[in-house]
Amino acid sequence: MTSHPPVLLQEVLRALAIQPGSTVVDATLGGGGYAEAFIAALGGEGTLVGIDVEEAAVKRVSRRILPTAPAGVRILLRRGSFRQLPEILTREGIEKVDAIAFDLGLSHFHLRESGRGFSFLRDEPLLMTFAEPQHHHGPTAAEIVNEWPVGELAALFRRYGDEPYAQRIARAIGNARKARRIVSSKELATLIEQTVPRRGRLHPATRVFQAIRIAVNDEFAALEAGLRSAIRLLRAGGRVAVVSFHSGEDRIVKAIFREAAHHGLGVRITKKPVVPRPEEIASNPAARSAKLRVFERKKRV
Ligand SMILES: C[S@@+](CC[C@H](N)C(=O)[O-])C[C@H]1O[C@@H](n2cnc3c(N)ncnc32)[C@H](O)[C@@H]1O
Repeated sequence: MTSHPPVLLQEVLRALAIQPGSTVVDATLGGGGYAEAFIAALGGEGTLVGIDVEEAAVKRVSRRILPTAPAGVRILLRRGSFRQLPEILTREGIEKVDAIAFDLGLSHFHLRESGRGFSFLRDEPLLMTFAEPQHHHGPTAAEIVNEWPVGELAALFRRYGDEPYAQRIARAIGNARKARRIVSSKELATLIEQTVPRRGRLHPATRVFQAIRIAVNDEFAALEAGLRSAIRLLRAGGRVAVVSFHSGEDRIVKAIFREAAHHGLGVRITKKPVVPRPEEIASNPAARSAKLRVFERKKRV
């Protein structure tokens, strides 16, 4: 059993300034670290809505949090995408919220326990879906790797992975799949290892795996939709905090906050992103690329 160390948690708590009695949304439950801290911050009264596309995450967090939750806090943990934030909240009779957090990407459970091919160090079916396959909409990693034209693969590796050997890796995949389908994470990782030189400490498959994962889960489009809705759902003075791990994500967050400020919806609390302290990176290397940005809805909407 692993746990997911929450990244930038103290910074997020400070940014959201959760008051007792308020309504808080954790749009990415994961291991429940944020959710647990949000419930504590509610001080015995209020509402916490927790969302994750992965059913196992919702079940895991429910098991952990619900038995010890304070009686005065309404806790609603739901499976769903933050793309559907307005629909999910409407279903619960919630119109406006005080704070929303997004902690993007995958959880430790995806990497270590899901068996869905996120890690190039394991031999698992090449799926990379955040949600369980029966709940996933869109292609799997195996479908992308085996069915996309070589040119599109190269563009994907460049655009979402900043992979300098994008073309070479895409061509190697194109050749390998002529013989037979590439069906496991290990097979793909080995093929990449044999195709490009090892650079520094990064495994040569890191960038390609990241790019495929982003495409499988349509992560950038989901973020855009979820974040735009989040801003509109905030009550006057409410705040949204986003922790991202990829330069492409951070660009989207920055642009959406800037655009919202331009339209008079509120103000950017962080002109520059907040990054983890060196001590956090030392104890949790997965935090190294994290960036937090915060937006506050106009005091009187
Ligand atoms: C980094 S983890 C969150 C960790 C969490 N803050 C904690 O303290 O444990 C990200 C989670 O977001 C979920 N996720 C990714 N995209 C999503 C989406 N569009 N809608 C809802 N959840 C999503 C993933 O399934 C994953 O469990």
